[in-house]
This record gives sequence, structure tokens and C-alpha cells, in this order.
Amino acid sequence: MTDKGVGILGVGSALPGRIVTNTDLEKTLDTSDEWIQSRTGIRERRIAEEGIVTSDLCTEAAHKALENAGITVDEIDLIIVATVTPDSPLPATACYVQAKMGAFKAAAFDIAAGCTGFIYALAVGSQFIKSGIYKNVLVIGAEILSRILDWTDRSTCVLFGDGAGAVVLGPVPAGQGLLSFKLGADGSLADMLCVPAGGTRMPACPESVEGRQHYVRMSGNETFKFAVRVMGDVTSQALDELGLTKDDLDFLIPHQANLRIIEAARKRFELPEERVMVNIDRYGNMSSASIPVALEDAVSTGRLKRGDLVSLVGFGAGLTWGAVIMRY
Ligand code: ACO
Repeated sequence: MTDKGVGILGVGSALPGRIVTNTDLEKTLDTSDEWIQSRTGIRERRIAEEGIVTSDLCTEAAHKALENAGITVDEIDLIIVATVTPDSPLPATACYVQAKMGAFKAAAFDIAAGCTGFIYALAVGSQFIKSGIYKNVLVIGAEILSRILDWTDRSTCVLFGDGAGAVVLGPVPAGQGLLSFKLGADGSLADMLCVPAGGTRMPACPESVEGRQHYVRMSGNETFKFAVRVMGDVTSQALDELGLTKDDLDFLIPHQANLRIIEAARKRFELPEERVMVNIDRYGNMSSASIPVALEDAVSTGRLKRGDLVSLVGFGAGLTWGAVIMRY
């Protein structure tokens, strides 16, 4: 065990160049820019070009994070990729990333915890440093959700986008960096947000393809109510662990699923708009990638400052939820 803290040494992101606006979607779906913006806050999203795979976005984001941290590929001890859209079911996408980066000294594995994946991965990665086993851990959240969306289902396909965000974790002085984690799950609610087929429960077959069972299914309304409650509760619990309250919080980086969910959290923590990171308007919900992309955005635009007490908080398929409190 080290007495030092574990913190974020560098950040990076990768976003496909292709922009799909709500107006573009109006051409193929019974939807409108007005409906999507007023219900979700989304104006446009990025969609990966054919041929681009999740590990490509991971690798681009990771190289930027390494550069930002001033660390070389050889100094990475472990690569963790949080994703629900791996390159393929086997092997882990992190292994493809390791090979693409030439980071052959690094161990590599994936974590799947829905949109909370990046928070779970931060929690896991930081333990390897805290325990003294590793020094530098690359944690990536990445998705190409556009490949598992039913583009004829207006209740889901308008919500999501593609992208990747990465951070380098490493030792920092005690009292700085990642200070507390709170993770949770309720597997009895798994069917609220899932892809029914493609695993052992329903292996791929002509019927599963015909029944469109390989695409995301979601009970939007129930997920919404759950999210509003859990985002606030889990952040409060993570603050409690440190003996802190909402008055100590300087900045909030929430999962970007719906602007109304983010607004509810902002009001609960009585934060002004400029202290809550929002980029759902430009990117939609990128699942595991939303939080690290929002973090990179907050850092590169100077909105998040060194020394700020910040909460990263998410919820997602599983159902899962989690928050981290960090002294940036
Ligand atoms: N365009 C136009 N109309 C639509 C659309 C659309 N894209 N989608 C649904 N509608 C219609 C519905 O059919 C319904 O019509 P009806 O009343 O005639 O039946 C009406 O709009 C209202 O539908 P609701 O589902 O009640 O709309 P709501 O205000 O709840 O918004 C939404 C739906 C945006 C999905 C919301 O419930 C939500 O954001 N839920 C949370 C989703 C979420 O957070 N997911 C997280 C995923 S995390 C992860 O791990 C991937």
C-alpha cells in the first residue's frame, strides 16, 4: 500500500468527424428536432464511419491522454477499457488497443458496467496503483453505439452517439486525486436496458436477427426516474464518506443521458450552470465514453481547475450506478 494518492495525470478524447443532426434524423424517422431537443437536450451526435472500430477511437484518445500526461507508451502498466460495444465478443478490446499502441508491457482487460463503466474502471484501475502493484494505468471509456442501435426505433436511436475518452492514472500527493468511490448495482432491473441477443442467453441465429434482438432495448421512462434519484443519492453518499457536503462541491461531471436528468442533479447540489459540465447537445449519450469526454472537455476549456473538488457520477445498464469524488 502506498501513502500517496492516485490522480488523473492526463486526459484525451476522440470523436468521429461525421456529425448527424436531429434534422438529418427527421429524413428517415417520424421524429423532430423540436421533440429531441426539448425532451433530451440533444442537437447532434457523432457517428463513426464504416470500418472504424471501438479500439481505433480508444487508441486515438489514449495517445492524446499520454501526451497530455507527458508519459510514454512503455510506461503504461495496465490498460482498462470500459465499453458495451467491444470490437468483438472475444478478446477484450483493451488487447486490441494494447497492440495498436505497441504498449506490450501493459496488462489489458475490459469492464462492462453500462454507462457507469468508466466510473467502475476508474475505481478498479486506481486500486492497482494504491496497492503499489502498478504505477501508471490507462483507463478508457469508448463506444460505437451506432452499430447496436435499431435505426427504425425512434425511442432509442435518437439518444446515442459514438466517441472515446481516456485518462492516465498515476501517483499524486496524498489528499489529492481520487478521494472516494461509491459503486452500486441492481441486477433485478437488468431488462430495463439491454441487448437481448448475442450472448449465451440467446445466441445469434436467424430468428434473433429477424426479431431485431441484437439492438438496444430500453424502458425510457423508468430509466429516467431511476436516474434522477440515483445520481443525487450516490454523489451524496460519496461525499458523506469524506465527511463532506454538497457545499464543498465545486464542479459536477454527470453522465450525459438527458439534459433534464442533469438539471435535476444540478438543482439538488445547488450548483450554478457554469459548474456543471454539459455537452450532450453536441454528442448525445455515449455510454461509457460520456464522462471521460466531458472531463476532457472541462479540462481543455479551462472550466475545471486544479484544486477543484469534483464529482464524476453516472448510471446505466445493469442497472448500475457510481460516483467518484476527486480533488483535481
Ligand atoms: N420523436 C418523436 N416522438 C417520440 C420519440 C422521438 N424520437 N421517441 C418517443 N416519442 C414519443 C413516444 O412514442 C410517446 O408518444 P405517445 O405518447 O403517443 O405514446 C411520446 O413521445 C412520449 O414518450 P415518453 O417515452 O413518455 O417520453 P419521455 O418524455 O419520457 O422521453 C426519453 C423519453 C427521452 C427516452 C426519456 O425517458 C429518457 O431520457 N429516459 C432516460 C434514458 C436514459 O437515461 N438512458 C440511459 C441509458 S444509460 C446506458 O447504460 C446506455
